[in-house]
Amino acid sequence: DPDISVTSTKAHLDQLQSIATANGGNRATGRPGYKASVDWVKSQLDAAGYVTTVQPFSTSSGTSYNLIAEWPHGDANHVVMAGAHLDSVSSGPGINDNGSASAGILETALAYARSGESAKNRVRFGFWGAEELGLLGSKYYVNNLPTAERDKVEVYLNFDMIASPNPGYFVYDDNPAGDGARDDLTAYFDGKGIPWEYIDVQGRSDHAAFRSLGIPTAGTFTGAEGTKTSAQASKWGGTAGRAFDPCYHSSCDTSANLDLTALDRNIDAIGHMIWSYAAKDYGTTPPPS
Ligand code: PHE
Ligand code: CA
Ligand code: ZN
Ligand code: ZN
Ligand code: ZN
Repeated sequence: DPDISVTSTKAHLDQLQSIATANGGNRATGRPGYKASVDWVKSQLDAAGYVTTVQPFSTSSGTSYNLIAEWPHGDANHVVMAGAHLDSVSSGPGINDNGSASAGILETALAYARSGESAKNRVRFGFWGAEELGLLGSKYYVNNLPTAERDKVEVYLNFDMIASPNPGYFVYDDNPAGDGARDDLTAYFDGKGIPWEYIDVQGRSDHAAFRSLGIPTAGTFTGAEGTKTSAQASKWGGTAGRAFDPCYHSSCDTSANLDLTALDRNIDAIGHMIWSYAAKDYGTTPPPS
């Protein structure tokens, strides 16, 4: 399994914090910090050899953008996707929510490009806009994906808040029937001796749009406004009776609002999933339509 660098990921998070600081303290839809975040992530991926597309769409707060990055190798009939929302709320810089997974996906993509792995499948990353306004970017993306392209997407892996300062280790309890991706995530945590729990996140993040198309989805989460129980503090450490992220959607969701152990464990899980799904055998014939 790859070791995705937590040091590099933290450096990306410091960059996103700098972008927020230079743009009024946030990276929210319709504010300059959002587009600056898109431009910066795009520049990193372009330099690594990804084919990137910026997809604008309108919202009640102004124009937002999805950033799509594809590694231009492997069978384009079998697409494996991972994604994270790149926007923050307007009340803060959004470093745990969701700079954490944006930076983690970015670093995984850069590490994959450097690895020399030969992808069997097409690996595509999505950085979604306007999640905080109602999952708008991911909905826009799937609604504008032609049916033939939807049918090629084998799996969508979502990451939203993966470095909460009082962390839990949650795996989305989504799409259990036929969704091996969820089981691959739990097996990964089991193999590392990391206790995990399922969480029913239902409609609260960007996998929902993919799931509604029948695409298998899975994801991890380290907790938001919910309170850690004493049983959870016993197995995970941290503070019982306190929120997983006391700075959720607040001005204090800064580059200090991160648990780097949780971040490292989750980015390594992302790396495991990307490496294994990029190499997974989906057969040589086109997918059924
Ligand atoms: N999507 C929520 C937000 O951005 C956070 C969340 C992620 C909640 C995953 C539940 C599960 O505010
Ligand atoms: Ca690591
Ligand atoms: Zn949020
Ligand atoms: Zn979020
Ligand atoms: Zn297929």
